[in-house]
Amino acid sequence: TIVPVVLCGGSGTRLWPRSRSAKPKPFIPLLGEQTLYQATLQRCSDRRRFARPLVVIGEKHLEFAKPQVADIAPDAQFVVEPMGRNTAPAIALAALALDKDDIMLVCPSDHHIIDRQAFEAAAEAAAELASRDWLVAFGIEATAPETGYGYIRRGEALGGGHHVHSFVEKPDLETALGFLAEGGYAWNGGIFAFRAGHFLSELARHRPAMAKAATAAFESRAAGSEDFRPDAELFAAITPESVDYAIMENTDRAAMVDVSMGWSDIGNWDALLQQRKTPGDDNVVVGPGEIIGAQGAMIDSDGPHVTLIGADNIVVVVDGEDILVTSRNAVQRVGEASRCKNQ
Ligand code: GDD
Ligand code: MG
Repeated sequence: TIVPVVLCGGSGTRLWPRSRSAKPKPFIPLLGEQTLYQATLQRCSDRRRFARPLVVIGEKHLEFAKPQVADIAPDAQFVVEPMGRNTAPAIALAALALDKDDIMLVCPSDHHIIDRQAFEAAAEAAAELASRDWLVAFGIEATAPETGYGYIRRGEALGGGHHVHSFVEKPDLETALGFLAEGGYAWNGGIFAFRAGHFLSELARHRPAMAKAATAAFESRAAGSEDFRPDAELFAAITPESVDYAIMENTDRAAMVDVSMGWSDIGNWDALLQQRKTPGDDNVVVGPGEIIGAQGAMIDSDGPHVTLIGADNIVVVVDGEDILVTSRNAVQRVGEASRCKNQ
């Protein structure tokens, strides 16, 4: 069976002020009525395909996470991290909580995916490879030299996918431009399929200290809780590292499936604007507001009525006491705001 392992972590500063450390990106409705976290569990809710999901999440966000999926995935189980140690330890805890032959489908909780059927088909192809002890990444067609993504260079055909020739996490701009010019590269979508026992053996090989500490923390978990609660002191000892750097860049068992599913990780306000745009209208207004004589602008207000006149490519966000005004080509600087840093 395929077990969805949903990762909820990170601080979500790039969509400040709507996303805040107290209530980050996965838990706020950004597109439609559902939150990205709800949509992630909805996508994996066909129980003929997917087993009961495991959500790996920080203590302070549990209060949002449980009620939000009470209807969508009432059977969800939770692994509660005492503190964030990035994705490699989070996935290790999930692997420890599962049977060694379970196939884990690791899903970030903050991505937008339009084509559910394409997602399901890719999950099956990836699970088949994972059952044969490949560490399988979802490859997304690379259309721009993004430096916030991992890049996968396709190798020879393998089952429903390909060998990974090489995996490069977050290259610099020059390297990314080279990859695009050369061709044969996909973005890493951050979705992975692993056999739980195989993931743990790769972790023991490439990051033995992390494997040992995660195992110790899991084995000393709190008794009598309905959630898995690893020991805080033992887990704190782990050096944070993402699965991309710790495992995917180092393993010789990496594979990939190419998938075209309308994927976006909605990494900033510009990406969200693109997703919200409707055909025939260049502007986006969410909440009370009006745009006059401007193109490529967005208003997103939770209160005051915002009027924007004659200013192209501007994003205005109102959230409680905070107003953000930024041009679209500067959205990656939102994290520099002192109000964002001190939230
Ligand atoms: N439980 C838990 N604990 N989840 C975490 C933690 C943690 O300590 N840290 C991050 N996560 C979750 C995030 O909430 C997100 O859903 C997912 O794991 C990935 O983490 P990000 O911090 O968003 O990673 P990234 O976007 O920088 O890079 C990854 O995703 C890209 C695609 O969006 C990499 O896999 C890249 O290679 C990839 O291209
Ligand atoms: Mg991300």
